[in-house]
Amino acid sequence: ESSQLLKGKRVLVTAGGTLERIDPVRYITNDSSGKMGFALAEAAYKMGAKVVLISANTQLKVLQGLENVCVKTTEEMYEAVLSRYDEMDMVIKAAAVADYRPIKQYDKKIKKSDDTLTITLQKNPDILKKLGELKTNQFLIGFAAETNDLEKYALEKLKNKNCDLLVANDVTALGSGFGTDTNKVNLYDKMGLIKELPLLTKEQVSEQILKMAASKMS
Ligand code: PMT
Repeated sequence: ESSQLLKGKRVLVTAGGTLERIDPVRYITNDSSGKMGFALAEAAYKMGAKVVLISANTQLKVLQGLENVCVKTTEEMYEAVLSRYDEMDMVIKAAAVADYRPIKQYDKKIKKSDDTLTITLQKNPDILKKLGELKTNQFLIGFAAETNDLEKYALEKLKNKNCDLLVANDVTALGSGFGTDTNKVNLYDKMGLIKELPLLTKEQVSEQILKMAASKMS
């Protein structure tokens, strides 16, 4: 089948959800399991690519043959991705990235006191946006996890972050999004909707995304 479509291509994939500490026992994160990013990394590897998988807080086993870098926070993921960007032909940002982190990290456990507690958050760097700005020849694939107005937000992200392909994920659809073995996505490029995929396994979704990307890469 689509055996060696990415032969010799260097592909970087991010997976999982970044985590931001509040104090030594508490943190902010999201529901990403890493399954989508791992499936993409494995599918790219099977299509002949050299794959770097940058994963955040996942419990999944990495296929032999892939280079894996583990990170925790958004800032760590930013450093890891940016340091490898120059040498890549394709980057796929499947990770769910924490947009904010606590402005202050307490080094001791916060004690219970008042009825309300305020934690001020500070904006994290937008990794994908930075990649879009620094892009030379890389084929850049972004994701958009949305609960509403899927197409509107997908097209906004595609444009703002200068992506070549955007995978729009309706995370409210049954069997789709965080934690599941299946996913339902639509693919967009600068011209608009290019493919509406049915509910598929994350492996099948990955093959479809990579085939589309391979056909569009120069
Ligand atoms: O891991 P699973 O359990 O399998 O779930 C898969 C998934 C739902 C996490 C995945 O399919 C998905 O949709 N990933 C993107 C989640 C996300 O963070 O979407 P977003 O719309 O908030 O971000 C848009 C894009 O910008 C993403 O490519 C994201 O990686 C990137 N981003 C966002 C914020 C930020 N500070 N830096 C970024 O690079």
